[in-house]
Amino acid sequence: MGLYCGIPDEGKTLFETHCVNCHMADGSGLRGIIPAINQSPVIYGQFTEMACLLYQGRQPADTTQSFVAMPSFKSLSNAQIANVINYVKKRWTDNPQFVSEQQVAEAVKACQ
Ligand code: HEC
Repeated sequence: MGLYCGIPDEGKTLFETHCVNCHMADGSGLRGIIPAINQSPVIYGQFTEMACLLYQGRQPADTTQSFVAMPSFKSLSNAQIANVINYVKKRWTDNPQFVSEQQVAEAVKACQ
């Protein structure tokens, strides 16, 4: 079960509501359009990078290749962002390090 902020399994629900339509239920993405996240270095790396990606979204680096952007999830609370990160890391990495609402709050304040 792991460590969740508040509502158990909220991360799973949020993932299914906000992420699967692009990244697919198994995280494999859509070849050439949406990157896979199930093996992405971003989910293995520092949670701060993923927190900022979720908070800010990201425009495609090369718009001749893709026009699809990663949307910003600024409307989610810090606790919800923590829960999504924890869910994704727990599901696809072998060494999840759970993050708290407070850690996300600090991370998003420091986004570049
Ligand atoms: C509208 C489609 C869309 C939705 C919805 C979406 N993403 Fe993304 N996501 C993208 C695109 C496109 C990129 C690549 C952005 C770029 O070009 O750098 C991306 C990148 C990522 C990456 C980095 C992958 C890598 O290796 O660079 C992660 C992690 C990620 N998304 C997680 C999520 C999570 C978690 C959610 C749900 C809260 C979500 N995304 C919702 C489209 C989406």
